[in-house]
Amino acid sequence: MHKAAIILAAGAGTRMKSALPKVLHKIAGLAMLGHVIKALRGAGVERIVVVTSPSGQAVRDYAAAHGCQSAVQEQQLGTGHAAASAREALKDFSGTLLIVNGDMPMVTASVIEDVVKAQAATGLALLACDFKDPAQYGRVLTTPDGFLDRIVEFKDADPQQRRITLCNGGCYAADAQKFFAWAAGLKNNNAQREYYLTDVPAIAKNEGVKCALAFADEVAVMGVNSRGELAEAEQVMQTRLRHAAMAAGVTMVSPQTVFLAHDTVLENDIEIDPFVVFGEGVTIRSGARIRSHSHLEGAEVAGGAIIGPFARLRPGAKIGADAHIGNFVEVKNTVIEKGAKANHLTYLGDAWVGAGANIGAGTITCNYDGFTKAKTDIGAGAFIGSDTALVAPVKVGAGAITAAGSVITKDVPADALAVARGQQGNKPGWARAFREHKKSEQK
Ligand code: UD1
Ligand code: MG
Repeated sequence: MHKAAIILAAGAGTRMKSALPKVLHKIAGLAMLGHVIKALRGAGVERIVVVTSPSGQAVRDYAAAHGCQSAVQEQQLGTGHAAASAREALKDFSGTLLIVNGDMPMVTASVIEDVVKAQAATGLALLACDFKDPAQYGRVLTTPDGFLDRIVEFKDADPQQRRITLCNGGCYAADAQKFFAWAAGLKNNNAQREYYLTDVPAIAKNEGVKCALAFADEVAVMGVNSRGELAEAEQVMQTRLRHAAMAAGVTMVSPQTVFLAHDTVLENDIEIDPFVVFGEGVTIRSGARIRSHSHLEGAEVAGGAIIGPFARLRPGAKIGADAHIGNFVEVKNTVIEKGAKANHLTYLGDAWVGAGANIGAGTITCNYDGFTKAKTDIGAGAFIGSDTALVAPVKVGAGAITAAGSVITKDVPADALAVARGQQGNKPGWARAFREHKKSEQK
């Protein structure tokens, strides 16, 4: 059976108080919408239509960039109306249709699969969850034989119904064309004057179609409506990512202080010290160690390398085996070959550092003149003296030495010494004479 999905993402998201559409707010570096798309694709959904508001161009762009179609809900008249707005985009589709709220980033492929399975029995299914604190979720009323009786939105629920803890998880599955026929019959006679998607099962029931229930845990169905809930979802996602990393063989002495991105690749036997932040696009190979207070993004680190404490790896940093990147060292778009070391107070940008080279404290690649970026090459085994400024484009040959404090503007041949600093002149006794003169002036 073919599977398609509608992701509801046209809501105003007013509770976020943001110019950015709610579903584009990120969790572990990936937009909420991206998490939902990932779960659907993982469950084998081939076609996805993202429902957006007329002003949701950014959401439509995101959908297109991720291989999804989009549909516009002209006015935000409720979740049922939103789902119906995708009818035209799916008019040629026959198969199972999933309808998923765009604000449930913790949903997984296996949860989606469970809803599809539950649907197979009756032709309609809803994802439900028993909450410890059901807050404002829609309440799920069941029939004695375990099917859905109806959903009552929190705002429409009486005190007794509000005591129900079984709630609507925001994911539905049905035969596609039957679903659109049911959705066409929705009415807005409720507290919010909206066309509720949650009323579709009642319409189906009138046609003798029972709605089966699939169940998920609280985490999987967590809806994000406010910044507070965004932070809660982030925390839960981080816990999920940390556990997966540790299960794959990563040591974290203080996992709750390590922040991972949705796509962080961590091989086994890596040590991560407390307080490390991973942005998107990082790969760490077996045997590397990341020490405290380091920030990594778009970087690759080979086995045996030590990063930090207090290191910053920016996009394009490629750190070779056994290399060391120490405190207050920033590396951007730079390859550091095997065993090279930059241990203190250094900026390496748009550079290549050969194997075994030693970069002294305070070395700076001057890679930017305000208009263009230029490249610095440092040969294998070169020794860059402390406080060297390498004015790019420039090449230091293999085995060469630059004297501390040099401003290197010309290429340095292999095995040469480059000295590019003022000559030192000593004036014997001058300092003492100066002090005595100053003291005599004060008398
Ligand atoms: C909804 C459910 C509630 C469920 C909860 C789970 C309804 C009526 N209520 O409530 O039963 O427990 O999700 O998280 O469905 N949207 C549109 N167009 C609209 C309105 C909303 O596309 O006109 C989208 C939103 O962008 C959002 C999703 O639909 O992604 C859900 O809307 P939201 O306002 O968050 O509904 P909840 O109050 O969370
Ligand atoms: Mg919601």
